[in-house]
Amino acid sequence: MSERQETPVQEIAKSCKNEVPDRFIHKNGYPQAQVDFVPLMDDFVVDFSLLFDHSSSPESHHLELAKLQSALSQWGCFQATNHGLSSTFLDDVRQVTKQFFDLPLQEKLKYSRLMDDYDGYGNDTIVSENQTLDWTDRLYLSVHPEDKLKLQYWPEKPLAFRKVINEYTAKLRMMFEPLIKAMARCLSLEENCFLKEHGELVNMDGRFNYYPPCPTPQSVLGVKPHADGTTLTILLQDKEVEGLQVLKDEQWFRVPVIPDALFINVGDLLEIMSNGILKSPVHRVVTNQDRERMSLAVFCFSDPKREVGPVAELISDEKPQMYKRVQQYQDIFFQYYQLGQRPLDAVKI
Ligand code: OGA
Ligand code: NI
Repeated sequence: MSERQETPVQEIAKSCKNEVPDRFIHKNGYPQAQVDFVPLMDDFVVDFSLLFDHSSSPESHHLELAKLQSALSQWGCFQATNHGLSSTFLDDVRQVTKQFFDLPLQEKLKYSRLMDDYDGYGNDTIVSENQTLDWTDRLYLSVHPEDKLKLQYWPEKPLAFRKVINEYTAKLRMMFEPLIKAMARCLSLEENCFLKEHGELVNMDGRFNYYPPCPTPQSVLGVKPHADGTTLTILLQDKEVEGLQVLKDEQWFRVPVIPDALFINVGDLLEIMSNGILKSPVHRVVTNQDRERMSLAVFCFSDPKREVGPVAELISDEKPQMYKRVQQYQDIFFQYYQLGQRPLDAVKI
């Protein structure tokens, strides 16, 4: 089936007069859609100033490392506070995102994703008649390294967009290595083990998500359940509107809004590299009847041409290799994702 570009969900939301088109409706329903019945996840805040600042006492450093370990083993994700990005700067990032989605449709369409490309403005790629669509528009941009940028998709308005997003992603890029080392250390592994497997080149893609208010949130999802095909994902949530949920032991949990925190999760590539010790959590986004929501997910992953697999020292007779080595995982990922299947299953041994 050929790929088609759909009407932006933002436009559908404006004109649908409370009747959501059928292809967004989850027919079999889905459990715990209503936020009221979904418990909040707790105890997974990691203070980066204690984790990385060498002037913090060894005791508080070890305590923070233990918190990271506990969050990762329970959830595969955590919220980072005191990460060095100021509240006003995060507001700037949110503001340029909002200003882009607030532009007139004609202006946004200049950046429309073309067929066979990931980058650009658009929504779900249709791969099957039976696919239930996500209630979200997004702008998808490769943001690092510089030579991967496709500038034709970068909005010229608002004027500050490029500068703010470049600065933001440069800061996240600096965070990547210390973070992935800390993840190895908190598991009592050699601190460079994941970094060596991942390779020095870090690719980063930004997915700017816009979720319009939805008249029937009980039957429509912002993003259907998935895990990320990344090494790590760093998410800047909406400052006020909740929506992200994480699955643990077949139970959904709401991710609370902590205004200046970054939500960080393990992705499939790191689950593969860690030979299954670290788990890439399944998550989804629910819709909200009254309020729009925005977020910016930055996907960090290794060079698609590089082959990555479970780190050798994590494979043993007791713990045999769980995953094949992979290359171009993003391609596998998108195919499976659009069909609502788990890409990791494709590379399990
Ligand atoms: C994603 C994602 C969560 C959110 O873009 O992969 O999970 O809160 N986003 O928008
Ligand atoms: Ni995700």
